[in-house]
Amino acid sequence: MQILARGNWSGAVGFILAAMGSAVGLGNIWRYPYITGQYGGAAFILLYIACVFAVGIPLLLAESLIGRKTQRNPVGAFRVLRPGSEWVVAGRLSVVSSFVILSYYAVVAGWVLHYVYLSLIKSFAGKSPQEIATLFTGMIASPWLQIFWLMVFMLLTILIISRGVSRGIEIGNKIMMPLLFALLVVLLLYAIQTDGAATGLEFLLRPQWQKLSPTAVLEALGQALFSLSLGMGIMITYGSYLSHQSNLVGCAFFVAIGDTLVAILAGFVVFPLVFSFGLEPSAGPGLIFQTLPIAFAQLPAGYWVSLAFFVLLGFAALTSSISLLEVVCAYFVDEQRWSRKKASWTLGIVIFLLGIPSAVGDDFLEFMDGLATNYLLPIGALLIALFTGWALTHDERREEFSAGESSAFRFASWSFLIRFVSPVALVLIFLHQLRLF
Ligand code: PHE
Repeated sequence: MQILARGNWSGAVGFILAAMGSAVGLGNIWRYPYITGQYGGAAFILLYIACVFAVGIPLLLAESLIGRKTQRNPVGAFRVLRPGSEWVVAGRLSVVSSFVILSYYAVVAGWVLHYVYLSLIKSFAGKSPQEIATLFTGMIASPWLQIFWLMVFMLLTILIISRGVSRGIEIGNKIMMPLLFALLVVLLLYAIQTDGAATGLEFLLRPQWQKLSPTAVLEALGQALFSLSLGMGIMITYGSYLSHQSNLVGCAFFVAIGDTLVAILAGFVVFPLVFSFGLEPSAGPGLIFQTLPIAFAQLPAGYWVSLAFFVLLGFAALTSSISLLEVVCAYFVDEQRWSRKKASWTLGIVIFLLGIPSAVGDDFLEFMDGLATNYLLPIGALLIALFTGWALTHDERREEFSAGESSAFRFASWSFLIRFVSPVALVLIFLHQLRLF
């Protein structure tokens, strides 16, 4: 009865697409290329892949196993597994993190919608780099414009979530994810035949080992957590709509490899364009909004390329934002017995209001981003790793892992990674944030 009321995926594919939709987001297409640019191309990519395998996949598995086992939201999940214990704090933290992240993520996603609009009305064509930069600063300086697009984006998110798990989230992802991949391939084919393609590919493929510092290692690890949507109960929530027969190990690999591939391919789209127009590869966060439109303004068929690019980014952001709103909604539906409609509209509106300060003053957006990525996510991920590795017994872990997966070697490797490697890596990230390491 409980499970029927909550909803379910129609099958493993529904879960994989939704989890990949959550994972693939602004982090892959906006953040990943510019940090790769800052930390030395191929060397950073290799490091990133190592982090995904050593920490990302084990945590993704831990979260989705907890969800599948309990069939509950993050708070309910810890309550079911360790009733009356303090572990429920880890679940509450997930719900808080989702509120915080969605409030500013939706502001940046609103910028993307504005850039879809700017692309549509041909705002970049014929403009000088200076004028294009002004489009961005002008947008940042206009609170009403940002609030308007924030509202549009939150409305889209609410509309999908209010339709439920299989009719909303699953259908939304089944439509948007294939389109996203198709757009990415089209952009890739376009980018690799521009003049700067050879330099761009060389920049990405030739490792610059000297740029790999301890900071780069921690940056790669933090990016892996953020990019795979870990440490905030999303995979617990999405895993809770899975049936017990599903092969979670296979799903986790699929999601992580798909997410990493999109990030790497996004780099192959961005850097050829950057080098074709002599732009700065380490331009930082402005790379997508200020640098790329300069290329779009001059490219043949630039109108279509920029439209495709920002629509791609918009889909990626929307499939991530629905996963954030779902964590919060699942908590109110399961624990407070709200209807899904009431939960999605009420919480969506609260998050919209919370987003307004980020839209009005950009220092606040940075503050919220710092709070989430430097503190909430690493702490959340650490608690989940410690819970899975140390609070659950060996038999509990074994039993849930073995449903749908029988390899003893895989279980032993996962156990080792989640008990030792993940906690140590996460504590290091945290100490680094506190400037103690
Ligand atoms: N994984 C998303 C991205 O790469 C961001 C995200 C983080 C989404 C945490 C949900 C939760 O953009």
